[in-house]
Amino acid sequence: MELIETVVRAKEVVAQWREEGLTIGLVPTMGALHEGHESLMETARAQCDRVVVSVFVNPLQFGPNEDYDAYPRDIARDASICESHGVDAIFHPSVEEMYGPLFHTFVVEEVLTDTLCGASRPVHFRGVCTVVTKLFNIVQPHKAFFGQKDAQQLAIIKRMVADLNMNVSIVGCPIVREADGLAKSSRNSYLSPEERQAALVLSQAVAQGQEAVRAGERDAARLRQAMVACIEAEPLASIDYVEVVDGQTMQPVDTLGSSVLVAMAVFIGSTRLIDNFLWEESEEA
Ligand code: PAF
Repeated sequence: MELIETVVRAKEVVAQWREEGLTIGLVPTMGALHEGHESLMETARAQCDRVVVSVFVNPLQFGPNEDYDAYPRDIARDASICESHGVDAIFHPSVEEMYGPLFHTFVVEEVLTDTLCGASRPVHFRGVCTVVTKLFNIVQPHKAFFGQKDAQQLAIIKRMVADLNMNVSIVGCPIVREADGLAKSSRNSYLSPEERQAALVLSQAVAQGQEAVRAGERDAARLRQAMVACIEAEPLASIDYVEVVDGQTMQPVDTLGSSVLVAMAVFIGSTRLIDNFLWEESEEA
């Protein structure tokens, strides 16, 4: 496995693979790898001849008062996880390598970014779309793998790829959870033992929402209210949002239609965690 730190070297390596007719899978990450990332690597490994994991904490997607400086970084640990999953290369550039002093070009999706995390984190998706576009241009993957936990991110990236005719297939992969239900996240490492316990309220609200929908609830306001009540019962939790939106457009709905995303962001102490479930009408059968 090669640890690549420059754009020039990454382009050389992938050009060689493409010349050999090999398919390339990219797993974009910010490092602090956990089982969620590992499942993306495994899926990529099964579907592609060569797998690249990018490890880059992207400053563009953090707001001024967010956790860019505190975000966990441990490339040696990340590299050994990648190695154990048969990853062929890690792309781990510096900030200067990605964003030179004259960097002024951004990629902006203008509709799906209005709601949910986009509403509470105004610069976030501009940063995500810009860095993901750069990673696609550098690594030139045939397929790129993203987790469903960041459901809005996944929908925006699919939109961007379709709108800009990018030559890559986007593969969404299921949320990976701890045994007690908490969705795996690099930010779980910020939680104290007491907060870790309190954080279960997110997956509990998800389970409650899923149960209500299975039982026939189709009214978005009532569904939302039941989940809000579940979260508000936890004193360490403070809601950023709980929303029921259309699964493609990310716009709020009144009634559950053919595809809806029920998504939440909740602060547990000062740690902001997200969780969601997607509901498709076909699931009714
Ligand atoms: O999901 C993430 O970890 C990041 O948003 C991504 C896609 C790697 C872009 O920095």
